[in-house]
Amino acid sequence: MAPNGRTIEDASISRPLGQLMIAAKNQYNIENFVETGTNLGETAEWASDCFESVVTIEFSDNIYAKATARRGDIDNIEFVKGKSQNKLKEIVSELNTRSIFYLDAHTGGCWASEEKSDVISDTNTNPCPILDEIAAIGEADRQHFIFIDDAGAFLTPPRVDYERHNNDWASVDIGIQELVAQIEDIDEDYYITSWEESILAVPPDATEFIKNTISAIRKSGTN
Ligand SMILES: C[S@@+](CC[C@H](N)C(=O)[O-])C[C@H]1O[C@@H](n2cnc3c(N)ncnc32)[C@H](O)[C@@H]1O
Repeated sequence: MAPNGRTIEDASISRPLGQLMIAAKNQYNIENFVETGTNLGETAEWASDCFESVVTIEFSDNIYAKATARRGDIDNIEFVKGKSQNKLKEIVSELNTRSIFYLDAHTGGCWASEEKSDVISDTNTNPCPILDEIAAIGEADRQHFIFIDDAGAFLTPPRVDYERHNNDWASVDIGIQELVAQIEDIDEDYYITSWEESILAVPPDATEFIKNTISAIRKSGTN
């Protein structure tokens, strides 16, 4: 539990995934956590306890207003309003150290909000900007850790679970092949795997560390 009482359960990521992120942070001196798709900021708040700085990007005006009203007083979170595919390049260019990216911006899928229909009906919103996001991360002069939420949406055609949630995710024709190709554009030796409902893309030099850490977390019984 963090000193202020927040726990991993307050984030929408799972406890094992959080443990893996923290292990990577400690091993590689990672200071920054960058999230796309803030929603109400639950994961950003969790990350603010674990990382020196958190940047989180939200497209919807109303959701951004709610997130900042609720969590805007947390000093080490920078709330950015805009489309992740437009904002990430600049954010990436300002990072001086290796960072963790948690990509979770999408209009459809399993998330609840009164504003969801507003977000979906904005025809200028790419329902899932993931490929542009990865391309922006790839422009960095260092290799970052990439965690992509909702692995099932990319791994399982026709993504039935996601279509169920009244959304336009079904119109997103992005599967694992497209994701892998985009990540390999950064470096074909990135280690790509899936764990805990996420797709992980790990810089080549961190491959063994991540494999061993996942194994250790599983053996410890948390997962
Ligand atoms: C699944 S929710 C995010 C949950 C949040 N990451 C968490 O862990 O608590 C998806 C969010 O992405 C936002 N979103 C959708 N498209 C976006 C885009 N292109 N850029 C930024 N945010 C976007 C939605 O408005 C929504 O708030």
